[in-house]
Amino acid sequence: LRVEALEQLQGVADAASLNDLRVQYLGKKGQLTEILRGMGALSAEERPVIGQVGNEVRAAIEAVIAEKQEGFDRAATAHRLQAETIDVTLPGKEVGTGSVHPLNKVAQEIEDIFIGMGYTIAEGPEVETDYFNFEALNLPKNHPARDMQDSFYITDEILLRTHTSPVQIRTMKAMNGKTPVKVICPGKVYRRDDDDATHSFMFHQIEGLVIGPNIRMSDLKGTLLQFVQEMYGPQMQIRLRPSFFPFTEPSAEVDVTCAQCGGSGCRMCKHTGWIEILGCGMVHPKVLEHGGYDPNEVTGFAFGMGVERIALLKYDIDDIRHFYGNDTKFLNQFAKM
Ligand code: PHE
Repeated sequence: LRVEALEQLQGVADAASLNDLRVQYLGKKGQLTEILRGMGALSAEERPVIGQVGNEVRAAIEAVIAEKQEGFDRAATAHRLQAETIDVTLPGKEVGTGSVHPLNKVAQEIEDIFIGMGYTIAEGPEVETDYFNFEALNLPKNHPARDMQDSFYITDEILLRTHTSPVQIRTMKAMNGKTPVKVICPGKVYRRDDDDATHSFMFHQIEGLVIGPNIRMSDLKGTLLQFVQEMYGPQMQIRLRPSFFPFTEPSAEVDVTCAQCGGSGCRMCKHTGWIEILGCGMVHPKVLEHGGYDPNEVTGFAFGMGVERIALLKYDIDDIRHFYGNDTKFLNQFAKM
């Protein structure tokens, strides 16, 4: 048995068959175990002799098994180390560095210009109540001007804000009647438009609001001229065209010199020499009242501009959808600007 077992053990090729042999000889029903178990039938003289031989055989088999097992373990470890080897001298994969999104960049530029004029930044929620978005801005229910801004309603009274003007009311209320108010309010706005080259269901606005004793339309005009010249260059001019917003009176739309032709007229400005950039006006007395101010004591101006529009003009981009496509070929153009 011993010779046979040792012979078989020498020829074993892997850990699994080694275990099979261990069971075959030393297991509970193994060949050697059977022999040792049969010793009760032997005579008193035979028992110690056979017992000793049996134990020797078991020790011999166990020793070989242990030795073999160790060999297999070592081989397995060596194999794993080989397989998991990392070549630390390989050059690494380059991780591209991101850049500031052109819309964020332009928004920051706009903010910086107004901060330079003493404004602070105010923010409001994108999910807004009908009261702040419309009602307090002198747009009562069923007012036809609500059609100008097709809205995403969540309930009858809650909607995604259609402009940043509700932050005017929130700011006034937070100021508790104190003056001066001098804020800009950047943020996302939402309208039920079909997306195309110039429309997006979501875009960005920056609102401006100034309130104090004796704020006049000339203050508004001077502020906007200063902004435009810092943004687009000192040669730029603006013009105000009469317009209508329920929350300002009088209201105006502001055009800036067409950067493409310098004002002489081209396709981009439809041969007018001017490009529209924002809406503005003197804060309507009813809006001041909703904000907790007495329109007999203070006046104010407000304006609202689309960040996309300012950016399209600044960088001569032909389609608003470029801003939302996450195409790194487009975005990388602004990385070093
Ligand atoms: N809220 C207006 C719009 O989204 C813009 C605006 C703001 C006009 C402030 C006047 C005063 O079209």
